[in-house]
Amino acid sequence: MRTVSGYSESATTRAQSPGAPGLLCARELTVCYASRGEPSSPALLGIDFDIAPGEIVGVLGESGSGKSTLALSILGLLPESADIAGSLVFEGKDLLRFDESAWRGIRGARIAMVFQEPGLSLSPVMRVGSQIAEVLRAHRQEGSNHRKLQVEAVLAEVGLTQVDRIYKAYSHQLSGGELQRVALSQALACRPDLIVADEPTRSLDGTRQKEMLDLLRETNRKFGCALIFITHNPGLLAGFADRVIVMYAGRIVEEGPVSRVFRRPLHPYTKGLLQLMPTSLQYAGRTRGQHLPVLPGTLTDDDHLSPGCSFASRCSARTQVCQTEFPAEVAPEKGRRVSCFNYEN
Ligand SMILES: Nc1ncnc2c1ncn2[C@@H]1O[C@H](COP(=O)(O)OP(=O)(O)OP(=O)(O)O)[C@@H](O)[C@H]1O
Ligand code: SF4
Ligand SMILES: [Mg+2]
Repeated sequence: MRTVSGYSESATTRAQSPGAPGLLCARELTVCYASRGEPSSPALLGIDFDIAPGEIVGVLGESGSGKSTLALSILGLLPESADIAGSLVFEGKDLLRFDESAWRGIRGARIAMVFQEPGLSLSPVMRVGSQIAEVLRAHRQEGSNHRKLQVEAVLAEVGLTQVDRIYKAYSHQLSGGELQRVALSQALACRPDLIVADEPTRSLDGTRQKEMLDLLRETNRKFGCALIFITHNPGLLAGFADRVIVMYAGRIVEEGPVSRVFRRPLHPYTKGLLQLMPTSLQYAGRTRGQHLPVLPGTLTDDDHLSPGCSFASRCSARTQVCQTEFPAEVAPEKGRRVSCFNYEN
């Protein structure tokens, strides 16, 4: 593990992550990408969270908030240019100490990923059934006939009816919805304990988004695998995720049960994201290519370097202290935490 100089220790006081410890536990997780040999502003900075077995946790944030960096860290897929520090303990072992051979044993088997574009996880020159069989072959000692039966079973489990056709198809012969289901069946093949889904519904239209969420929920109930569901759209988390982690500029700014955070958001950034969520844009009514409105302003490098709150330049609730001091995390009620001086206003 390479350490990230200057960022490995956080100066802030911390509220304990309200998630129940158990499956995955991140402490002080910090990631910097090097740009032209120079380290850039951290993409993740001092992240703490816990994921319990079987729960669905939504990670919510605007573009650039660090969501995919978090996903890639959990899968050991960060590029060479990234430096990572802190700890990421999965089933008692710190993943940041894993070498590539240890990662190969766990990735796809115990922790699996569903990408935004299924094309990223599927080869265009191999039949999709054979690709799912490859995942099984990498992790289990079984004969090819048994593997084929397992692949057909997992394709059926994700609601695909024409299993034979799908098994033999190449990815370009499948629709967007079919591809997402194939990607999910590939992730489920070895019955992982944790699935990380990075914006898996972003390229789907409203109806297909809803189907995919229902399928993920059903999968979670049926197999008990925990799910980290990454999105920039709060509308997808309501009624779906158990807990939400809200990210801004590489930090967690708020966390709590979805029902409570959505009913009474505490951080001005969360409030802004939720106010921009008219019901007409929630998943039931969204069509492909229709974008959510964005909060006014953008995050700049100056915000990253500011000694104060990184949201200050965009925050209508800021007070003088926000420009000079970083807001410590507090736990205003059981199961919640927030990082804001003025969360009660
Ligand atoms: N490979 C990379 N090299 C350099 N910087 C990167 C790299 N990947 C991400 N970053 C930077 O890290 C920060 C976080 O990016 P990340 O992709 O994790 O955000 P995100 O929340 O997933 O955004 P989006 O919603 O657009 O997918 C951004 O400033 C981004 O420019
Ligand atoms: S600490 Fe200040 S600037 Fe930051 S979100 Fe809270 S009120 Fe806004
Ligand atoms: Mg992303």
